[in-house]
Amino acid sequence: MIDGKKVMLSGMQSTGIITLGNYLGALKNWVDLSDDDSIKCFYGIMDLHSITVRQDPAELRKNARTLLMLYIAAGLDPEKNCIFFQSHVPAHAELAWILNCYTYMGEMNRMTQFKDKSAKHADNINTGLFTYPVLMAADILLYQADYVPVGKDQMQHLEITRDIANRFNGIYGDVFTIPEGYVGQTGAKIMSLQDPTKKMSKSDENPNASISLLDDKDTIMRKFKKAVTDSDGFIAYSDDKPGIKNLIDIYCAVTGITVEEALNEFDGMGYGVLKEHVGEAVAGKLVPLQERFKELSQDKAYIDRIIKENAEQAAYYANKTLRKVKKKVGFII
Ligand code: TRP
Repeated sequence: MIDGKKVMLSGMQSTGIITLGNYLGALKNWVDLSDDDSIKCFYGIMDLHSITVRQDPAELRKNARTLLMLYIAAGLDPEKNCIFFQSHVPAHAELAWILNCYTYMGEMNRMTQFKDKSAKHADNINTGLFTYPVLMAADILLYQADYVPVGKDQMQHLEITRDIANRFNGIYGDVFTIPEGYVGQTGAKIMSLQDPTKKMSKSDENPNASISLLDDKDTIMRKFKKAVTDSDGFIAYSDDKPGIKNLIDIYCAVTGITVEEALNEFDGMGYGVLKEHVGEAVAGKLVPLQERFKELSQDKAYIDRIIKENAEQAAYYANKTLRKVKKKVGFII
């Protein structure tokens, strides 16, 4: 609890420019949740997590700042929500170290994301990648978060966070709030435009597979035009037609209408026209966000102030927990 409010924390890694999938699946929900005045929200830009995969320094710096501005441009008010860079709050790395000593190799070995990522980056299976979930546990537990909105792919990490917190509390008493997952009811799972059985990902090598939040209208229209569908030639919402289903999901998430309403609207339409409709809707939705982003990128002083103030605020709450932890484990403080 902070000032009588429940606490929510979430975050994204600062690798690449986030996609329409990140926006519709997560960021848009965060914005809706942050309107709730009974919740104190923290949103991290998880740059420490980003370096578990090799990054170009200049790119990483640029991407992290871009992500912060995208959070704000999408509607997260940085005066009300605490939006911060993970690396600006040293408590994250400190608590992660401590929690490493309360986490078992066997637990980390079971993590499916570690298996996937080490297969993908076979030349750089570093121990940071292995203990990635422990750092994530530190992110969450430092702020005594009650709720953590995450996608399905992060549920296993949240489970392990709960396990670590319970273990620690079992030894030292009530130190950490046990966080609950929060899978948004409207959080659409957006799939790749090139392989609709795979999640849309910003790290996809095929640029046509995902829509970046900063793509211009022509690019968006072109990518939708190339979207993989099927050869049936009719529009229906079914798991057997993942390409069409994905286009409908995107349309519904962007416009706020139901699948039924969308199917009515698309009745008798060909795939080409469907794609145009979806492209138009997405581009239209992103225009105000991109305009705000442009304004923000021209206001360096404002962004610098936000970064500084929010880092201080985050550190204040994080250090409170960290001090408690250090005392419990027996450090001189
Ligand atoms: N691992 C998350 C992802 O890749 C990002 C993340 C890092 C996160 N720390 C977190 C999400 C804490 C929620 C809470 O999506």
